[in-house]
Amino acid sequence: MVLLQDDYVKLVGFVKSRYGINLENKYSLIENRLSNYIISRGFRSFSSFFAYVFADESRYEITNIINLLTTNYTYFMREVEHFKHLTETFLPYADNNITDNDLRIWSAGCSYGNEPYNIAMCIDEYFGFRKYGWDCKVLATDISINALQIAKDAVYNVEALEALSGKWIDKYFVKLTDKKYQVCDRIRNEVVFRFHNLMDPIKFKKQFDLILCRNVMIYFDTPTKDALSDRFYDATEDNGFLYIGHAETLSNNTKYERQQPAVYRKETVIPKIIIE
Ligand SMILES: C[S@@+](CC[C@H](N)C(=O)[O-])C[C@H]1O[C@@H](n2cnc3c(N)ncnc32)[C@H](O)[C@@H]1O
Repeated sequence: MVLLQDDYVKLVGFVKSRYGINLENKYSLIENRLSNYIISRGFRSFSSFFAYVFADESRYEITNIINLLTTNYTYFMREVEHFKHLTETFLPYADNNITDNDLRIWSAGCSYGNEPYNIAMCIDEYFGFRKYGWDCKVLATDISINALQIAKDAVYNVEALEALSGKWIDKYFVKLTDKKYQVCDRIRNEVVFRFHNLMDPIKFKKQFDLILCRNVMIYFDTPTKDALSDRFYDATEDNGFLYIGHAETLSNNTKYERQQPAVYRKETVIPKIIIE
């Protein structure tokens, strides 16, 4: 199926204005990734499919397109340095400093759910039986309804589990077939999935101790990324953390302090007491 220049330009403009995603120079990616999907949806050309997408007020199709264009193969323990930081720095910090035992973690742009389930597994490992004294549900959001449904089902191909030890697979998954595994109910119950467009204001009730927005901002232009980073900052608790993808950076003028590659912190300024 051939993507005409006119259709390409229309899609790029639509996605940029509503979702902040920059698809310029992504002609081949769009043509390759969407052709089969469009056929599977019963359309014969990009033009007829896009006409339907632009008129679809539910936004179901456009958000699925964005997911198809922005998600590659995703797997457990992706960017393992973050899970090391989570276990060795963030969780000990939270354990010692969060006095109401309400741990607030947000996986923003969670795609098929590997990331939030992986966090829930790390929390389970870290706290062990002490977990029951904590409220540590992970909020996981995306704009793709399709991705959110797949995430809720929590069924993964065996290849996605390759970086996990046999012990973790036995503990946190149920084997459905030789090729398919499902995250166990105990961990599934620790993740709450919601629809959220990262271009919209953040209206969750409380601030977060940790926000993960990995491999999402890479598609945003600089003003969109800066504005989102400011919104994340306002939604982060004092001394809380932000993880971004290792291929991403925040602007130099971000309010966050960079701790290590792809890890940022909202450092609280302790007011100096001047004694005269
Ligand atoms: C590459 S995946 C990242 C998955 C996961 N964070 C990881 O690093 O493995 C990018 C995800 O961002 C989502 N996304 C893109 N633009 C978004 C937006 N404006 N609001 C919310 N989610 C968005 C896509 O639907 C996709 O699921």
